[in-house]
Order: sequence, then C-alpha cells, then structure tokens
Amino acid sequence: MADEQTGVSETEIAVHWHEEEYYSPPESFIQQANLKDPEIREKFRIENFPDYFAEYGELLQWDRKWDQVFDGSNPPFWRWFVGGRLNASVNCIDRHLASNRNKAAFYFVPENPDEMRQVITYQDLYVRVNEFAALLRDFAGVKKGDRVTIHMPMVAELPIAMLACARLGAIHSVVFGGFSGQACADRIIDSESHILITMDGYYRSGKWLNHKEKADVAVERAEQAGQHVDKVLIFERHPGRYSSDTPLTEGRDFIVNELLSQFRGARVEPESMKAEDPLFLMYTSGSTGKPKGVQHSTGGYLSYVTATSKNILDIHPEDVYWCMADIGWITGHSYIVYGPLSLGASSIIYEGVPSYPHANRPFEIAEELGVNIFHTSPTAIRGLRMAKDINPQKYNYHFKLMVTVGEPIEPDVWRWYYHVIGRDEAVIVDTWWQTETGGFLCSTVPALDKMKPGSAGPGVPGIHPVIFDDEGHEIQAGSGRGGNICIRNPWPGTLQTIWKDPERFVRTYYGKYCKNPDSKDWRDWPYMAGDGAMLASDGYFRILGRIDDVINVAGHRLGTKELESAVLRLDEVAEAAVIAAQDDLKGTVPELYVSLQPNVVPSDELSQRIVNAIVSEIGPIARPRKVWIVPDLPKTRSGKIMRRILASISNNKEIGDVTTLANPEVVDTIHQLVRS
Ligand code: WT7
Repeated sequence: MADEQTGVSETEIAVHWHEEEYYSPPESFIQQANLKDPEIREKFRIENFPDYFAEYGELLQWDRKWDQVFDGSNPPFWRWFVGGRLNASVNCIDRHLASNRNKAAFYFVPENPDEMRQVITYQDLYVRVNEFAALLRDFAGVKKGDRVTIHMPMVAELPIAMLACARLGAIHSVVFGGFSGQACADRIIDSESHILITMDGYYRSGKWLNHKEKADVAVERAEQAGQHVDKVLIFERHPGRYSSDTPLTEGRDFIVNELLSQFRGARVEPESMKAEDPLFLMYTSGSTGKPKGVQHSTGGYLSYVTATSKNILDIHPEDVYWCMADIGWITGHSYIVYGPLSLGASSIIYEGVPSYPHANRPFEIAEELGVNIFHTSPTAIRGLRMAKDINPQKYNYHFKLMVTVGEPIEPDVWRWYYHVIGRDEAVIVDTWWQTETGGFLCSTVPALDKMKPGSAGPGVPGIHPVIFDDEGHEIQAGSGRGGNICIRNPWPGTLQTIWKDPERFVRTYYGKYCKNPDSKDWRDWPYMAGDGAMLASDGYFRILGRIDDVINVAGHRLGTKELESAVLRLDEVAEAAVIAAQDDLKGTVPELYVSLQPNVVPSDELSQRIVNAIVSEIGPIARPRKVWIVPDLPKTRSGKIMRRILASISNNKEIGDVTTLANPEVVDTIHQLVRS
C-alpha cells in the first residue's frame, strides 16, 4: 500500500518493523483489576455479537430498560439499546449521590500554583449542573434537541455546561478552546446553534488569554452567514470579576456568574432521552475543507465509555485519575467527562500547560492529589523526556496504570515512559481510537495481555478489527504488509452519523469496503477508520497513521484541505499544499508549499501573512513550521498535486520516480530550495 498523501509505503514499514518485545503487568495490578476474566475474549467473540454488549448497557441506570440491544435493520445507521430511556447527567451525577455525595468528582487545578485548587464533589456538581441547566432553560430558552455551542478552556465550568445541556436533552457541541473565533463560527453555523457558552479568559504558560474576544468574532461571522446567535453566556474565570478587555454587547452577552443568583437552589427534572437521541456533536477534520459534525448517541455512547473506562482504564472508586487531554477533544469527552463520571470516579481538570511553571509540575500534582492513573499523549511524553530539569524520582507518587493515546508512540519513547514515569510498576495501555468511535478500539486489556512497545494491541473485547488491502482482500496476520484497518462489527460507541450529512457518513466510513450496499447484514458493512495498520502474528495491531488528507499534530487531527483553503483566501496565493513533516516533539507538524500568482514577489512579510491566515482561521495548533514559496507544485498529468513528493522532500526521504509528472523539473528546484 503506497499512499499518495502520507507516503506510507511497504518499504518504510519493513524498516520500522523490529523484534518482538513484551512486558507483563505486575501481579499486584492483576490482583486488583476490574477485568481479569481470561475468558473475556471468548465471551466477546464475533459469533456472540451483538448480545455481549448487553452487559455494557447494564452498567447504566435506565428510566426504561431497552427492548433490543442492537437494531441493524438500516445499515449503517445502527441503533443501540432500542426502546431504552435514560439521562446522561443522571448517570454521571444523581446516581452517585446516595453513597458518594461527598466524594470529589473533580479537582480543578489552576495553572498558577499559588491559586487555590477547587474540589467539586458529586453534590457540588449536582447543584451547579442543576442551577446552570435552569438558567439555560429559563433564561436562554434552551430546549430538548437544541444545539448549544460551548467554547471554553479547561475549567470545571466546562463539564458543568456539558452536563447541564445533557440534563435538558440539548445537544452540546464543544469547540476546543484553542481554536479561533472563525473555527467556532463554522461550528455554530453548521450546528445551527443559537446559544454560545464561553469564558472571559484563562491562563496558559503564565499568561492571561483573552478568550471573550473570540466569541465576538464567532458571533459576527455566524451572523454574516445567516446564523443568528441569540445569547452569549460568559463564565468568569474569577467569579465576580469580569476580566476581559472585550466589552459586553448589550442584550446579547450575559455574565453567567451574575445570572446564577436568580437560580440558587433550582432543580431541573432530567429529560428522559431515548437511547439513540444524540448526546453531542464533535467536529473533526476529514478529507475536505469542511470539518464534520460527528454525532454521538446517549445510551450507546455512554455505555461504551463507561465499560471501557472500567475495563481498560481500570478505574476503581478509590482511584485518582488524571487525563491530561483537553475536554474540547474526544478524549476529554469520553475519558474525562462521561466515562469517569459515570463510574463515580475522582479526576483532575488541569487548566494550563503541563510544564508550567516547571517541568516537574505533573509529578507535583500527582504527589499532592494521589494520582494513580495517568493518561496522556506521546507528544506530552516526548516533551517531558526532552525537558532539562525533569526529575520524577524526587516526587512521591505511584501510578498503577498509564495511558498513551492520539498518535503512534515510538518504542523508545514507550520504554522511557514505562521506566522513568511509570517506575517499572505501572501498566501501560496504548489505546487506538478516534473521534468517530466514541471509545477505545484497540488496546491491551491491562491485566490480561502483555504490553508491546509501539503496538496498540488487539481489538478491545467486542471489537473485531481486520486489515484490508485496497482491493478489499484481507491481509493476514504476520504477513508484514500494511493496509487499511477496519472493524468488522458495529459497537455501541460508534458515531450515529455526520450532522446534516448522512451521505458523507456512509461514503466516508463504509463507501470503500461495503460488500453490498443493499445488504441488511452488518457483516457486509465493515467500518473503515482511515488509518494504515499492520497485524503481527501475535494478533497485535500497529497503527501507522492516516491514509487520508488528515495530519496528526501532537495527537490532534487537522485537515490539510482546511489549512490550504485558509491560505488560498489570500489573493497572492495561486496554489497550496500542506504536508506532514516529521517532528521530534509533536510526531508530525504541518509544512506548507505555496506557489504565487504571476508577478507576485515572495517576501517575509507575505510568508508571515500566510502563517497568520492559518492561525486566525483555525488556531495556533495549525501553525505551519515552515512556508516554502516555490515556483510551481509537482503535479500529475491530470493536475493532482503530489503531496507525497513534497513530504519526501521535507522529511529527507527517497523521492522516487517523478518522470510521469506533468512538471518533473520542478521537483529538483524545490529540492534545492529546501536543502539549501
Ligand atoms: C486518529 C484519531 C483517539 C482520541 C484522540 C485522537 C490517531 C489515535 C492512536 C494510537 C496511533 C493513534 C489515528 C486516528 N491515533 N490513537 N494509540 N496510536 N495512532 O482522536 O482526533 O479523532 O484522531 O489519531 O490516526 O485515526 P482524533
């Protein structure tokens, strides 16, 4: 499999493939694990689909029990726990009150170590979610089924806002706080939200960031596109003190902390939702310039993240769990908010960058709060490893389990994580999944499977992955060949559809490998993830990276087309191509190749404006590492830009044969420019 966009090729795979190396979980971990039944995979074999997922449903509290675990009669629009009714906020809060009212649901740790941290008990969460839900309903007019856009940093008010929506049956659409006002506007427009929930500002790397200014941009752009935003609800980072320079717009902007006094003591009857009513939308990048609104269900999704939090993260009531992801991404939704809360866990919400004010901050927090489950990304691990003054030995903490997620982890980085951060005592799970999948797809079961650095592992119980070549033939385990990883069976956490675009949903995930579009049999509808992968003879999957026009920067997905279209808005730019350049810290980062309109002269000022266009359109996470202004981009005779060739140049790899290009000579010119 050689891919145009990513340059994943068989030769490359062969080089990266190395000896088998296994690590075993310690006996002490196995003893206490939630999931230690060695028969689990036997119980969850594909022949028993879908009944085995009933036990996931049993983990939840239902207003009305379901009639049918799975309805596959309209592929690929699967329905789970049909006939069941429940409310997600009840499952995450109310049901814990009887025995865990006083337990910490969250510790909010501000970035500044001198600012007091907050403990939010389940009772606190209950009160705050109810009061804010009452405000949303009675002041903002939010009703069941409405979409509410939430653009907030990492603060406790973010899950409170999400759960308040869930209580009312409103569909939240959380936009990552680091995204620009424009990116927020795009999501408001597509989801047709009338309400935006935001915050005045927050701290990052010791600096106060004005966040409210993004709300003004978002609302203005949404209005221009015909999407009216009725109210902007603003939480204050320091309650009682509005701390943004951006003025409030009369009649549109409201300070939540002021309004809340009218709702003291309010309680909101939770909406009893159908299992398949949508719980939220989460926009993610795909192959086109337009992010897609991935729609997740209430019952299926919640059951899936609850079960995987229990079985794979091994969260017990007495554990203290810290996931360093941002709640604005799917990892935070599933494994900070919904899964852990549904289990009644205690977790940490950390506001800022982990290295502030010093590299050992994560260990300081772990020691202070007794964190014993630690969840982060390869980029964060590489960052810790590269930090000069890192000294975990100085801190008294014990991790029983550590998670890596979001991008492939180099075996070397894995080993460092295991020995230095995990002190040879923590089990590691390398969890492979996606925004669309709701929860984990591949991972070892921590007490049952050996760990193998660089491999995510087999499918988690109930998930049956397979690798297909481009013709749809199954690639056998141990063949040493890469292909497209797919899942043979549906599962409760899977996306329901793409918001307002069911055709794109079917095409993107089922278009390539559906055996027969008229078939009503789920076996004919494998889910295509969009990743290249290899299957070793031990049944472990190694994820190689995206096969589409998506690049993975520090575990976050960016659509190359989104970056390119931001740049193409500049009049001076003729063509643009974004490629994934290898980076020691972030795995890959965008590099940009542009050609200019005739008679436009390249300049540093223009390059800077190109970078600014991307940052203001998407956000700082999309900032290209380098902008190469070139006379022309390499193209096929049919006019397709050969990003693979540009990627080879940026990454100092073999370029291969270019003679079939329409303009082979330009490759040399670009090569010289980049090398000089
Ligand atoms: C893409 C999904 C999963 C939540 C965070 C990202 C890559 C994810 C792994 C892993 C190798 C991984 C894949 C996937 N990815 N986890 N453990 N090993 N690659 O969610 O933004 O939807 O991105 O992240 O390429 O398709 P996302």
